[in-house]
Amino acid sequence: MSETGKMQRNANSGNIDKPWGGRFQQSTEKLVEKFSASEHYDRRLCFHDIRGSLAHASMLARQGIISDKDLAAISEGLEEIRQEIEAGTFTWRPELEDVHMNIESALSRKVGAPGRRLHTARSRNDQVATDVRLYVREEIDRLDRLMHALQESLLHQACSFTGLVIPGFTHLQHAQPVLWSHHWLAYFQMFRRDRERLLDCRKRVNVCPLGSAALAGTGFPIDREYVARELGFDDITRNSLDAVGDRDFIIEFLACLSITMMHLSRMSEELVLWASSEFGFVELPDGYCTGSSIMPQKKNPDVPELVRGKTGRVYGHLVSLLTLMKGLPLAYNRDLQEDKEALFDAVDTTSICVEVMAGLVALVKPCADRLSEVTGKGFLTATDLADYLVGKGVPFREAHEVVGRAVASCIERGVELTDLDLEELKKFHPSVEGDVMGVLTPEGSANARNCPGGTGISAVRRQIQEAQAWLKEKAHEMEQGRREGDCR
Ligand code: ARG
Repeated sequence: MSETGKMQRNANSGNIDKPWGGRFQQSTEKLVEKFSASEHYDRRLCFHDIRGSLAHASMLARQGIISDKDLAAISEGLEEIRQEIEAGTFTWRPELEDVHMNIESALSRKVGAPGRRLHTARSRNDQVATDVRLYVREEIDRLDRLMHALQESLLHQACSFTGLVIPGFTHLQHAQPVLWSHHWLAYFQMFRRDRERLLDCRKRVNVCPLGSAALAGTGFPIDREYVARELGFDDITRNSLDAVGDRDFIIEFLACLSITMMHLSRMSEELVLWASSEFGFVELPDGYCTGSSIMPQKKNPDVPELVRGKTGRVYGHLVSLLTLMKGLPLAYNRDLQEDKEALFDAVDTTSICVEVMAGLVALVKPCADRLSEVTGKGFLTATDLADYLVGKGVPFREAHEVVGRAVASCIERGVELTDLDLEELKKFHPSVEGDVMGVLTPEGSANARNCPGGTGISAVRRQIQEAQAWLKEKAHEMEQGRREGDCR
Protein backbone atom coordinates (compact mmCIF):
# COMPACT_ATOMS: atom_id res chain seq x y z
CA MET A 1 0.00 0.00 0.00
CA SER A 2 1.31 3.47 -0.89
CA GLU A 3 2.15 6.04 1.78
CA THR A 4 -0.94 8.04 0.84
CA GLY A 5 -3.05 4.90 0.98
CA LYS A 6 -1.84 4.15 4.49
CA MET A 7 -2.63 7.66 5.62
CA GLN A 8 -6.08 7.39 4.12
CA ARG A 9 -6.79 4.34 6.24
CA ASN A 10 -5.71 6.04 9.43
CA ALA A 11 -9.26 6.68 10.55
CA ASN A 12 -8.66 7.64 14.18
CA SER A 13 -6.57 10.71 13.56
CA GLY A 14 -8.53 11.84 10.51
CA ASN A 15 -6.41 12.11 7.40
CA ILE A 16 -5.40 15.68 6.75
CA ASP A 17 -4.46 15.06 3.14
CA LYS A 18 -7.45 13.09 1.89
CA PRO A 19 -10.28 13.82 4.28
CA TRP A 20 -12.71 11.59 2.44
CA GLY A 21 -10.20 8.70 2.51
CA GLY A 22 -12.25 6.67 4.98
CA ARG A 23 -14.81 5.80 2.36
CA PHE A 24 -12.30 4.65 -0.28
CA GLN A 25 -10.51 1.34 -0.79
CA GLN A 26 -8.18 2.67 -3.47
CA SER A 27 -6.38 5.94 -3.95
CA THR A 28 -7.32 8.40 -6.71
CA GLU A 29 -5.86 7.76 -10.17
CA LYS A 30 -2.99 10.11 -10.96
CA LEU A 31 -4.72 11.14 -14.17
CA VAL A 32 -7.90 11.96 -12.28
CA GLU A 33 -5.93 14.01 -9.77
CA LYS A 34 -4.44 15.98 -12.62
CA PHE A 35 -7.79 16.27 -14.38
CA SER A 36 -9.73 17.56 -11.41
CA ALA A 37 -7.14 19.76 -9.72
CA SER A 38 -7.85 23.48 -9.65
CA GLU A 39 -5.16 24.51 -7.18
CA HIS A 40 -2.95 25.97 -9.95
CA TYR A 41 -5.53 28.67 -10.67
CA ASP A 42 -7.86 28.86 -7.67
CA ARG A 43 -4.90 29.61 -5.39
CA ARG A 44 -5.70 33.12 -6.50
CA LEU A 45 -8.44 32.95 -3.86
CA CYS A 46 -6.02 32.08 -1.05
CA PHE A 47 -6.32 35.34 0.89
CA HIS A 48 -10.08 35.33 0.56
CA ASP A 49 -10.11 31.73 1.75
CA ILE A 50 -7.99 32.60 4.79
CA ARG A 51 -10.18 35.57 5.62
CA GLY A 52 -13.31 33.42 5.35
CA SER A 53 -11.77 30.73 7.57
CA LEU A 54 -10.78 33.26 10.23
CA ALA A 55 -14.33 34.61 10.40
CA HIS A 56 -15.78 31.10 10.51
CA ALA A 57 -13.39 29.97 13.26
CA SER A 58 -14.06 33.06 15.30
CA MET A 59 -17.79 32.39 15.07
CA LEU A 60 -17.31 28.71 16.05
CA ALA A 61 -15.46 29.86 19.20
CA ARG A 62 -18.03 32.53 20.08
CA GLN A 63 -20.75 29.92 19.81
CA GLY A 64 -18.80 27.46 21.96
CA ILE A 65 -18.47 24.97 19.10
CA ILE A 66 -14.67 25.07 19.36
CA SER A 67 -12.56 26.33 22.28
CA ASP A 68 -10.79 29.67 22.48
CA LYS A 69 -7.55 27.72 22.49
CA ASP A 70 -8.50 26.08 19.21
CA LEU A 71 -9.32 29.49 17.76
CA ALA A 72 -5.97 30.91 18.83
CA ALA A 73 -4.12 28.00 17.21
CA ILE A 74 -6.16 28.29 14.01
CA SER A 75 -5.61 32.04 13.79
CA GLU A 76 -1.88 31.73 14.33
CA GLY A 77 -1.59 28.89 11.84
CA LEU A 78 -3.55 30.75 9.17
CA GLU A 79 -1.47 33.87 9.72
CA GLU A 80 1.71 31.86 9.22
CA ILE A 81 0.29 30.35 6.05
CA ARG A 82 -0.59 33.78 4.75
CA GLN A 83 2.96 34.96 5.35
CA GLU A 84 4.40 31.89 3.62
CA ILE A 85 2.17 32.47 0.59
CA GLU A 86 3.19 36.10 0.45
CA ALA A 87 6.86 35.18 0.74
CA GLY A 88 6.47 32.51 -1.94
CA THR A 89 7.59 29.73 0.41
CA PHE A 90 4.24 27.93 0.71
CA THR A 91 4.24 24.51 -0.94
CA TRP A 92 1.20 24.11 -3.18
CA ARG A 93 0.22 20.50 -3.72
CA PRO A 94 -1.89 19.62 -6.75
CA GLU A 95 -2.85 16.26 -5.26
CA LEU A 96 -4.83 18.23 -2.65
CA GLU A 97 -7.11 19.42 -5.44
CA ASP A 98 -7.85 23.00 -4.63
CA VAL A 99 -6.92 26.09 -2.64
CA HIS A 100 -9.27 25.14 0.21
CA MET A 101 -7.75 21.71 0.82
CA ASN A 102 -4.23 23.06 0.41
CA ILE A 103 -4.71 25.63 3.14
CA GLU A 104 -6.70 23.40 5.47
CA SER A 105 -4.20 20.60 5.17
CA ALA A 106 -1.24 22.95 5.76
CA LEU A 107 -3.05 24.30 8.81
CA SER A 108 -3.62 20.84 10.28
CA ARG A 109 0.00 19.99 9.61
CA LYS A 110 1.05 23.08 11.54
CA VAL A 111 -1.34 23.13 14.49
CA GLY A 112 -2.75 19.60 14.67
CA ALA A 113 -6.23 18.91 16.06
CA PRO A 114 -7.53 22.52 16.11
CA GLY A 115 -6.83 22.69 12.38
CA ARG A 116 -8.93 19.58 11.87
CA ARG A 117 -11.82 21.23 13.74
CA LEU A 118 -11.95 24.25 11.40
CA HIS A 119 -14.21 22.54 8.89
CA THR A 120 -16.97 21.97 11.48
CA ALA A 121 -20.34 23.30 10.24
CA ARG A 122 -18.87 24.19 6.87
CA SER A 123 -18.42 22.56 3.47
CA ARG A 124 -16.22 23.45 0.56
CA ASN A 125 -19.46 24.26 -1.26
CA ASP A 126 -20.34 27.26 0.90
CA GLN A 127 -16.64 27.98 1.39
CA VAL A 128 -15.88 28.39 -2.31
CA ALA A 129 -19.05 30.43 -2.86
CA THR A 130 -17.92 32.77 -0.07
CA ASP A 131 -14.36 33.07 -1.39
CA VAL A 132 -15.52 33.93 -4.89
CA ARG A 133 -17.95 36.55 -3.59
CA LEU A 134 -15.16 38.18 -1.57
CA TYR A 135 -12.95 38.10 -4.65
CA VAL A 136 -15.57 39.59 -7.00
CA ARG A 137 -16.39 42.33 -4.50
CA GLU A 138 -12.73 43.28 -4.28
CA GLU A 139 -12.37 43.28 -8.07
CA ILE A 140 -15.46 45.46 -8.49
CA ASP A 141 -13.90 48.05 -6.20
CA ARG A 142 -10.56 47.85 -8.03
CA LEU A 143 -12.20 48.14 -11.45
CA ASP A 144 -14.23 51.07 -10.23
CA ARG A 145 -10.98 52.86 -9.43
CA LEU A 146 -9.51 52.02 -12.85
CA MET A 147 -12.63 53.31 -14.54
CA HIS A 148 -12.38 56.48 -12.51
CA ALA A 149 -8.95 57.10 -14.04
CA LEU A 150 -10.31 56.42 -17.51
CA GLN A 151 -13.06 58.96 -16.97
CA GLU A 152 -10.47 61.48 -15.79
CA SER A 153 -8.63 61.02 -19.10
CA LEU A 154 -11.86 61.48 -21.06
CA LEU A 155 -12.69 64.62 -19.13
CA HIS A 156 -9.16 65.88 -19.67
CA GLN A 157 -9.67 65.54 -23.45
CA ALA A 158 -13.06 67.25 -23.22
CA CYS A 159 -11.53 70.19 -21.37
CA SER A 160 -8.45 70.47 -23.58
CA PHE A 161 -9.86 71.68 -26.89
CA THR A 162 -13.28 73.01 -25.94
CA GLY A 163 -14.01 75.13 -29.01
CA LEU A 164 -12.75 72.61 -31.58
CA VAL A 165 -15.41 71.56 -34.09
CA ILE A 166 -15.28 68.12 -35.70
CA PRO A 167 -17.61 66.29 -38.07
CA GLY A 168 -20.29 64.22 -36.35
CA PHE A 169 -21.38 61.05 -38.12
CA THR A 170 -24.45 58.87 -38.44
CA HIS A 171 -24.17 55.76 -40.66
CA LEU A 172 -20.49 56.78 -40.84
CA GLN A 173 -21.65 59.57 -43.19
CA HIS A 174 -21.07 63.23 -42.46
CA ALA A 175 -24.03 64.39 -40.40
CA GLN A 176 -23.62 67.60 -38.36
CA PRO A 177 -20.72 69.45 -36.77
CA VAL A 178 -20.13 68.61 -33.11
CA LEU A 179 -17.60 69.76 -30.56
CA TRP A 180 -14.51 67.64 -29.88
CA SER A 181 -15.41 67.94 -26.19
CA HIS A 182 -18.90 66.64 -26.81
CA HIS A 183 -17.47 63.56 -28.49
CA TRP A 184 -15.30 62.54 -25.51
CA LEU A 185 -18.06 63.33 -23.05
CA ALA A 186 -20.23 60.78 -24.85
CA TYR A 187 -17.78 58.08 -23.73
CA PHE A 188 -17.65 59.60 -20.27
CA GLN A 189 -21.39 58.92 -19.98
CA MET A 190 -20.97 55.30 -21.09
CA PHE A 191 -18.40 54.61 -18.41
CA ARG A 192 -20.52 56.42 -15.85
CA ARG A 193 -23.32 53.94 -16.57
CA ASP A 194 -20.81 51.09 -16.42
CA ARG A 195 -19.70 52.14 -12.97
CA GLU A 196 -23.27 52.47 -11.77
CA ARG A 197 -24.01 49.01 -13.15
CA LEU A 198 -21.00 47.54 -11.35
CA LEU A 199 -22.06 49.08 -8.07
CA ASP A 200 -25.54 47.73 -8.50
CA CYS A 201 -24.15 44.27 -9.24
CA ARG A 202 -22.06 44.60 -6.06
CA LYS A 203 -25.26 44.57 -3.98
CA ARG A 204 -26.07 41.04 -5.12
CA VAL A 205 -22.43 39.95 -4.81
CA ASN A 206 -22.14 41.17 -1.24
CA VAL A 207 -24.28 38.50 0.41
CA CYS A 208 -22.79 35.78 2.59
CA PRO A 209 -23.47 32.10 1.75
CA LEU A 210 -21.35 30.69 4.60
CA GLY A 211 -23.45 28.48 6.85
CA SER A 212 -25.26 26.87 3.92
CA ALA A 213 -22.75 24.04 4.39
CA ALA A 214 -22.92 21.32 1.71
CA LEU A 215 -26.47 22.09 0.59
CA ALA A 216 -28.84 21.80 3.54
CA GLY A 217 -27.41 24.07 6.22
CA THR A 218 -26.12 22.71 9.51
CA GLY A 219 -27.42 21.56 12.89
CA PHE A 220 -24.62 23.31 14.78
CA PRO A 221 -25.73 26.49 16.57
CA ILE A 222 -23.89 28.82 14.18
CA ASP A 223 -24.30 32.60 13.92
CA ARG A 224 -24.47 33.44 10.24
CA GLU A 225 -25.09 37.15 10.76
CA TYR A 226 -21.91 37.44 12.80
CA VAL A 227 -19.82 35.81 10.05
CA ALA A 228 -21.43 38.05 7.42
CA ARG A 229 -20.62 41.16 9.45
CA GLU A 230 -17.03 40.02 10.05
CA LEU A 231 -16.54 39.62 6.31
CA GLY A 232 -18.15 42.94 5.43
CA PHE A 233 -21.17 41.35 3.74
CA ASP A 234 -24.44 43.29 3.80
CA ASP A 235 -26.68 40.26 4.26
CA ILE A 236 -26.83 36.46 4.39
CA THR A 237 -28.22 34.22 1.65
CA ARG A 238 -31.76 32.95 2.29
CA ASN A 239 -31.75 29.41 0.93
CA SER A 240 -28.90 26.96 1.32
CA LEU A 241 -29.73 24.93 -1.81
CA ASP A 242 -29.67 28.10 -3.89
CA ALA A 243 -26.63 29.60 -2.16
CA VAL A 244 -24.18 26.77 -2.89
CA GLY A 245 -25.13 26.51 -6.56
CA ASP A 246 -25.74 30.17 -7.35
CA ARG A 247 -23.30 31.79 -9.75
CA ASP A 248 -25.70 34.53 -10.97
CA PHE A 249 -23.46 37.12 -9.37
CA ILE A 250 -20.52 36.06 -11.55
CA ILE A 251 -22.65 36.05 -14.68
CA GLU A 252 -23.99 39.48 -13.84
CA PHE A 253 -20.46 40.72 -13.18
CA LEU A 254 -19.24 39.31 -16.52
CA ALA A 255 -22.20 40.99 -18.23
CA CYS A 256 -21.06 44.29 -16.71
CA LEU A 257 -17.51 43.65 -17.91
CA SER A 258 -18.79 42.71 -21.38
CA ILE A 259 -20.65 45.99 -21.67
CA THR A 260 -17.56 47.90 -20.59
CA MET A 261 -15.50 46.02 -23.17
CA MET A 262 -18.11 46.83 -25.80
CA HIS A 263 -17.73 50.53 -24.96
CA LEU A 264 -13.95 50.30 -25.04
CA SER A 265 -14.15 48.49 -28.34
CA ARG A 266 -16.33 51.18 -29.93
CA MET A 267 -13.89 53.82 -28.80
CA SER A 268 -11.02 51.70 -30.14
CA GLU A 269 -12.65 51.20 -33.51
CA GLU A 270 -13.11 54.94 -33.81
CA LEU A 271 -9.49 55.67 -32.88
CA VAL A 272 -8.25 53.15 -35.44
CA LEU A 273 -10.36 54.87 -38.11
CA TRP A 274 -9.47 58.37 -36.98
CA ALA A 275 -5.73 57.62 -36.97
CA SER A 276 -5.83 56.30 -40.56
CA SER A 277 -4.54 58.56 -43.34
CA GLU A 278 -8.03 58.51 -44.87
CA PHE A 279 -9.49 60.23 -41.80
CA GLY A 280 -6.35 61.83 -40.36
CA PHE A 281 -8.35 63.27 -37.46
CA VAL A 282 -5.95 62.36 -34.66
CA GLU A 283 -2.35 61.61 -33.88
CA LEU A 284 -1.91 58.69 -31.46
CA PRO A 285 1.01 58.85 -29.00
CA ASP A 286 4.11 56.98 -30.22
CA GLY A 287 4.35 55.13 -26.92
CA TYR A 288 1.05 53.41 -27.63
CA CYS A 289 1.78 52.42 -31.24
CA THR A 290 4.19 50.06 -32.95
CA GLY A 291 6.01 50.03 -36.26
CA SER A 292 6.08 47.42 -38.97
CA SER A 293 8.97 45.01 -39.38
CA ILE A 294 8.89 45.55 -43.14
CA MET A 295 7.16 48.86 -43.97
CA PRO A 296 9.20 51.74 -42.54
CA GLN A 297 6.42 54.32 -42.83
CA LYS A 298 3.95 52.41 -40.63
CA LYS A 299 2.68 53.52 -37.23
CA ASN A 300 0.11 50.97 -36.20
CA PRO A 301 -2.67 51.55 -33.65
CA ASP A 302 -2.05 48.20 -31.94
CA VAL A 303 -3.44 49.20 -28.56
CA PRO A 304 -6.99 49.99 -29.72
CA GLU A 305 -6.84 47.03 -32.11
CA LEU A 306 -5.98 44.68 -29.26
CA VAL A 307 -8.66 46.14 -27.03
CA ARG A 308 -11.18 45.58 -29.82
CA GLY A 309 -9.88 42.03 -30.22
CA LYS A 310 -9.93 41.19 -26.52
CA THR A 311 -13.59 42.20 -26.30
CA GLY A 312 -14.57 38.92 -27.95
CA ARG A 313 -12.65 37.05 -25.31
CA VAL A 314 -14.64 38.63 -22.46
CA TYR A 315 -17.96 38.01 -24.24
CA GLY A 316 -16.81 34.40 -24.63
CA HIS A 317 -16.38 34.03 -20.88
CA LEU A 318 -19.89 35.37 -20.28
CA VAL A 319 -21.35 32.86 -22.72
CA SER A 320 -19.23 30.07 -21.18
CA LEU A 321 -20.73 30.69 -17.78
CA LEU A 322 -24.29 30.97 -19.02
CA THR A 323 -23.78 27.65 -20.77
CA LEU A 324 -22.07 26.12 -17.76
CA MET A 325 -25.11 26.87 -15.61
CA LYS A 326 -27.99 26.08 -17.93
CA GLY A 327 -28.26 22.35 -17.25
CA LEU A 328 -27.30 22.13 -13.58
CA PRO A 329 -29.71 20.53 -11.13
CA LEU A 330 -29.70 21.77 -7.52
CA ALA A 331 -27.47 22.10 -5.61
CA TYR A 332 -23.66 22.08 -5.93
CA ASN A 333 -22.17 20.29 -8.94
CA ARG A 334 -18.49 19.97 -9.68
CA ASP A 335 -19.08 21.69 -13.03
CA LEU A 336 -19.08 24.89 -10.99
CA GLN A 337 -15.34 24.66 -10.60
CA GLU A 338 -15.16 25.68 -14.26
CA ASP A 339 -16.38 29.19 -13.40
CA LYS A 340 -13.02 30.44 -12.16
CA GLU A 341 -10.72 30.55 -15.15
CA ALA A 342 -13.36 32.42 -17.14
CA LEU A 343 -13.91 34.83 -14.27
CA PHE A 344 -10.21 35.47 -13.65
CA ASP A 345 -9.41 35.99 -17.30
CA ALA A 346 -12.35 38.34 -17.80
CA VAL A 347 -11.15 40.41 -14.83
CA ASP A 348 -7.53 40.51 -16.01
CA THR A 349 -8.47 41.31 -19.58
CA THR A 350 -10.94 44.06 -18.75
CA SER A 351 -8.65 45.61 -16.13
CA ILE A 352 -5.68 45.96 -18.43
CA CYS A 353 -7.86 47.25 -21.27
CA VAL A 354 -9.38 49.96 -19.06
CA GLU A 355 -5.94 50.88 -17.77
CA VAL A 356 -4.23 51.06 -21.15
CA MET A 357 -7.08 53.05 -22.68
CA ALA A 358 -6.94 55.55 -19.82
CA GLY A 359 -3.28 56.11 -20.70
CA LEU A 360 -3.90 56.33 -24.43
CA VAL A 361 -6.96 58.60 -24.34
CA ALA A 362 -5.15 61.23 -22.28
CA LEU A 363 -2.49 61.57 -24.99
CA VAL A 364 -4.58 61.60 -28.19
CA LYS A 365 -3.98 64.83 -30.16
CA PRO A 366 -6.47 66.30 -32.63
CA CYS A 367 -5.16 67.24 -36.10
CA ALA A 368 -6.80 70.66 -36.11
CA ASP A 369 -6.04 71.61 -39.75
CA ARG A 370 -7.43 68.40 -41.14
CA LEU A 371 -10.49 68.62 -38.88
CA SER A 372 -11.24 72.15 -39.99
CA GLU A 373 -10.79 71.17 -43.65
CA VAL A 374 -13.20 68.26 -43.24
CA THR A 375 -15.86 70.08 -41.24
CA GLY A 376 -16.05 72.70 -44.02
CA LYS A 377 -17.05 69.98 -46.46
CA GLY A 378 -19.79 67.41 -46.83
CA PHE A 379 -22.81 69.63 -46.25
CA LEU A 380 -22.59 69.27 -42.48
CA THR A 381 -24.63 72.47 -42.09
CA ALA A 382 -27.49 71.49 -44.42
CA THR A 383 -29.80 70.93 -41.45
CA ASP A 384 -28.93 74.39 -40.19
CA LEU A 385 -30.03 75.89 -43.49
CA ALA A 386 -33.33 74.00 -43.24
CA ASP A 387 -33.75 75.17 -39.60
CA TYR A 388 -32.99 78.71 -40.77
CA LEU A 389 -35.83 78.57 -43.30
CA VAL A 390 -38.15 77.22 -40.62
CA GLY A 391 -37.22 80.30 -38.61
CA LYS A 392 -38.44 82.37 -41.55
CA GLY A 393 -41.80 80.66 -41.42
CA VAL A 394 -41.23 77.85 -43.97
CA PRO A 395 -42.71 74.48 -42.86
CA PHE A 396 -39.90 72.01 -42.00
CA ARG A 397 -40.80 69.45 -44.68
CA GLU A 398 -40.71 72.13 -47.37
CA ALA A 399 -37.43 73.51 -46.02
CA HIS A 400 -35.93 69.99 -46.06
CA GLU A 401 -36.92 69.58 -49.72
CA VAL A 402 -35.51 72.98 -50.70
CA VAL A 403 -32.15 72.34 -49.01
CA GLY A 404 -32.02 68.86 -50.55
CA ARG A 405 -32.29 70.49 -53.98
CA ALA A 406 -29.58 73.01 -53.08
CA VAL A 407 -27.25 70.18 -51.96
CA ALA A 408 -27.89 68.21 -55.17
CA SER A 409 -27.07 71.25 -57.22
CA CYS A 410 -23.84 71.84 -55.26
CA ILE A 411 -22.80 68.22 -55.77
CA GLU A 412 -23.39 68.59 -59.50
CA ARG A 413 -21.20 71.70 -59.60
CA GLY A 414 -18.57 70.30 -57.24
CA VAL A 415 -18.97 73.06 -54.62
CA GLU A 416 -20.06 73.36 -50.99
CA LEU A 417 -23.08 75.25 -49.61
CA THR A 418 -20.65 77.75 -48.10
CA ASP A 419 -19.28 78.47 -51.60
CA LEU A 420 -22.66 79.87 -52.71
CA ASP A 421 -23.26 83.61 -52.38
CA LEU A 422 -26.47 85.20 -51.17
CA GLU A 423 -27.94 85.61 -54.66
CA GLU A 424 -27.42 81.95 -55.49
CA LEU A 425 -28.91 80.84 -52.17
CA LYS A 426 -31.93 83.09 -52.69
CA LYS A 427 -32.68 81.21 -55.92
CA PHE A 428 -33.54 78.13 -53.85
CA HIS A 429 -35.97 80.03 -51.63
CA PRO A 430 -37.01 83.68 -51.53
CA SER A 431 -36.99 83.68 -47.70
CA VAL A 432 -33.19 83.47 -47.64
CA GLU A 433 -31.71 86.75 -46.42
CA GLY A 434 -28.33 88.24 -45.57
CA ASP A 435 -28.22 86.69 -42.08
CA VAL A 436 -27.97 83.18 -43.60
CA MET A 437 -24.17 83.19 -43.82
CA GLY A 438 -23.66 82.89 -40.03
CA VAL A 439 -25.65 79.66 -39.79
CA LEU A 440 -23.70 77.94 -42.55
CA THR A 441 -20.34 77.85 -40.75
CA PRO A 442 -19.53 74.71 -38.73
CA GLU A 443 -18.89 76.83 -35.62
CA GLY A 444 -22.22 78.62 -36.01
CA SER A 445 -23.96 75.30 -36.50
CA ALA A 446 -22.41 73.58 -33.47
CA ASN A 447 -22.95 76.55 -31.22
CA ALA A 448 -26.61 76.81 -32.06
CA ARG A 449 -27.35 73.54 -30.31
CA ASN A 450 -27.53 74.53 -26.69
CA CYS A 451 -30.44 72.40 -25.55
CA PRO A 452 -29.56 70.21 -22.53
CA GLY A 453 -27.27 67.43 -23.79
CA GLY A 454 -26.64 69.29 -27.07
CA THR A 455 -23.28 70.06 -28.65
CA GLY A 456 -23.43 73.89 -28.30
CA ILE A 457 -20.57 75.42 -26.32
CA SER A 458 -22.65 76.50 -23.34
CA ALA A 459 -24.47 73.13 -23.21
CA VAL A 460 -21.08 71.38 -23.32
CA ARG A 461 -19.74 73.62 -20.57
CA ARG A 462 -22.65 72.59 -18.39
CA GLN A 463 -21.94 68.97 -19.26
CA ILE A 464 -18.29 69.37 -18.25
CA GLN A 465 -19.26 70.95 -14.94
CA GLU A 466 -21.71 68.19 -14.21
CA ALA A 467 -19.12 65.52 -15.11
CA GLN A 468 -16.51 67.19 -12.89
CA ALA A 469 -18.93 67.31 -9.97
CA TRP A 470 -19.87 63.66 -10.46
CA LEU A 471 -16.22 62.55 -10.56
CA LYS A 472 -15.43 64.60 -7.48
CA GLU A 473 -18.24 62.95 -5.60
CA LYS A 474 -16.96 59.53 -6.70
CA ALA A 475 -13.40 60.39 -5.68
CA HIS A 476 -14.72 61.41 -2.29
CA GLU A 477 -16.59 58.12 -1.91
CA MET A 478 -13.48 56.15 -2.84
CA GLU A 479 -11.34 58.13 -0.43
CA GLN A 480 -13.73 57.57 2.43
CA GLY A 481 -13.29 53.84 1.78
CA ARG A 482 -17.04 53.54 2.03
CA ARG A 483 -16.59 50.01 0.77
CA GLU A 484 -14.73 46.98 2.12
CA GLY A 485 -10.98 46.84 1.67
CA ASP A 486 -8.89 44.08 0.10
CA CYS A 487 -8.41 40.65 1.57
CA ARG A 488 -4.62 40.99 1.59
N1 ARG B 1 -12.78 23.35 -6.12
C1 ARG B 1 -14.18 23.28 -5.92
C2 ARG B 1 -14.89 24.33 -6.79
O1 ARG B 1 -14.27 25.20 -7.23
C3 ARG B 1 -14.50 23.52 -4.49
C4 ARG B 1 -15.76 22.89 -4.05
C5 ARG B 1 -15.62 21.42 -4.09
N2 ARG B 1 -16.77 20.75 -3.58
C6 ARG B 1 -17.00 19.46 -3.77
N3 ARG B 1 -18.09 18.99 -3.29
N4 ARG B 1 -16.18 18.69 -4.42
O2 ARG B 1 -16.07 24.27 -6.99
